[in-house]
Amino acid sequence: MEPFLAGKTAVVTGGTRGIGRAVVEALLGSGAQVAFCGRTPEAVERAAGELSGLGPVLGQAADVSKWDQVETLFAAVAERFGGLDILVNNAGIGIFRGVREMEPEEWRRVIDLNLTGVYYCCHLALPLLERRGGGYIVQISSLAGTNAFTGGAAYNASKFGLNGFSEAIMQDLRYDNVRVSYIMPGSVNTGFSPGGERADWKIAPEDVAQVVLDLLRMPARTLVSRVEMRPSKPKK
Ligand SMILES: NC(=O)c1ccc[n+]([C@@H]2O[C@H](COP(=O)([O-])OP(=O)(O)OC[C@H]3O[C@@H](n4cnc5c(N)ncnc54)[C@H](OP(=O)(O)O)[C@@H]3O)[C@@H](O)[C@H]2O)c1
Repeated sequence: MEPFLAGKTAVVTGGTRGIGRAVVEALLGSGAQVAFCGRTPEAVERAAGELSGLGPVLGQAADVSKWDQVETLFAAVAERFGGLDILVNNAGIGIFRGVREMEPEEWRRVIDLNLTGVYYCCHLALPLLERRGGGYIVQISSLAGTNAFTGGAAYNASKFGLNGFSEAIMQDLRYDNVRVSYIMPGSVNTGFSPGGERADWKIAPEDVAQVVLDLLRMPARTLVSRVEMRPSKPKK
């Protein structure tokens, strides 16, 4: 891979596996230094060990739905790298239940991570992006952010909300040299949905990572603000 991100620093939330892991690998392969998080220290340490051969990497256990843990994550990034150029808000969960069955605690888990956690990360990343004169925020949203489905009340609400949040902050930040994009994949071949099948017809996590790199390659004058991705041939 071409090292077009040499000298750049990136943070990826939820980088231990799935889409986030593929994004961390793609950024390292493009020459960036990368910090990532996941909730459990064991999974983070294991992933950091596996990734260390690809480039400078910092694994930090942090639950993105918890403000104090996100503060600690960005403090560690500031200490290790001094600033930030790229934030990829990827960590997310899905709990798929009808509104009648969904418990308040389940609702909060989805919204606190998929929506409020993204706000926490953007808020704390901005001073670090400003140290570098600007940068890029990429949100991993979902086609569930425009297409509602039964059982999707919390997940749809979180991703519709994330799209609105992203469009608003895109307008807040564009004159501060911070570009904001959101990517909306359809089914991706990860272990995201409990009981969901792994299948080759789905989008590969590496394909989402490729889109992240494509966005970062775009000349600074241009902003691809929203990307839809879907399997070419979904199962009938
Ligand atoms: N897979 C799909 O079909 C699909 C489609 C469209 C959009 N997306 C979106 O893509 C993103 C990634 O999905 P994925 O399929 O890669 O999921 P995944 O395979 O389940 O991976 C999720 C990652 O996020 C981390 N994570 C989960 N909860 C976290 C928390 N509270 N704080 C910090 N990290 C946390 C996980 O690590 P730990 O469990 O160790 O914390 C893991 O590294 C999500 O935002 C999802 O909504 C997925």
